[in-house]
Amino acid sequence: MTAEPRPRPYLMCAPEHFAVEYAINPWMDPTQPVDAELARRQWEDLRQTLTGLGHTVDTLTPLAGLPDMVFAANGAFTVDGIAYGARFRFPQRTAEAAAHRQYYEADPATWKFVEPQQINEGEGDFAYLPQAHGGLVLAGYGFRTEPAAHAEVQAVFGRPVVSLRLVDPRIYHLDVALAAIDDENIAYYPGAFSVGSQRVLRELFPNALLADQDDAMAFGLNLVSDGRHVVLPAEAVGLAAQLNDAGYVAVPVELSEFKKGGGSVKCCVAELRP
Ligand code: ARG
Repeated sequence: MTAEPRPRPYLMCAPEHFAVEYAINPWMDPTQPVDAELARRQWEDLRQTLTGLGHTVDTLTPLAGLPDMVFAANGAFTVDGIAYGARFRFPQRTAEAAAHRQYYEADPATWKFVEPQQINEGEGDFAYLPQAHGGLVLAGYGFRTEPAAHAEVQAVFGRPVVSLRLVDPRIYHLDVALAAIDDENIAYYPGAFSVGSQRVLRELFPNALLADQDDAMAFGLNLVSDGRHVVLPAEAVGLAAQLNDAGYVAVPVELSEFKKGGGSVKCCVAELRP
């Protein structure tokens, strides 16, 4: 493993308008209330955990009428100063894409924004491993992002893209099934993937950490790692122990309110790769 943490710039969006008003994944139940004040505190704790680890966190202005905008990871996928925009699967989230686009277009010295032609939900379905196979993109499909977007990403970034099929509706985004734990290695829950995709992952990442179903359902893989510190939901106790055993430092955070929307740590945090 890469023992040295790398300070990173992240993008988040405060949960000012967060609520569960519709159901576009199996976790969302609009009859179950969200504690808005608790959500605000949990989000703030997450932000401070990241800055406390030496990272920088930029924020987007939350917009009324977009209750899922707190899940900032879905708004784009950035590598090498290119920001490939999102095109959401469901109409309830469509307008979030423009807010992310504006963020990147406001800083043309840093970012080249690429408007996507294909449906894709940003880092929700794309992961980047800078030191694996010369800079590898892992891409999920089956529920949200279209496979055609994987080809688009390969053309836009000029990096190899490996398509992985998700098969469990509770694990509807790649970032709830798999995570980069450093620049070259991943953790994942095999049961989230088709048999063929499991085989591809075994072949590409023989040293991966394998999470069990309990940790996957606790959204343990929805984590943010700087290569050493791994910020993950507190409920994922098994995965935290595995990470610590492997020489990483698990940093548990409480994000119960966001689980009601079908998300956790990683969903709330977009990594910026200028
Ligand atoms: N309610 C949101 C949706 O279903 C949750 C998104 C979670 N984000 C993520 N990166 N997995 O779209």
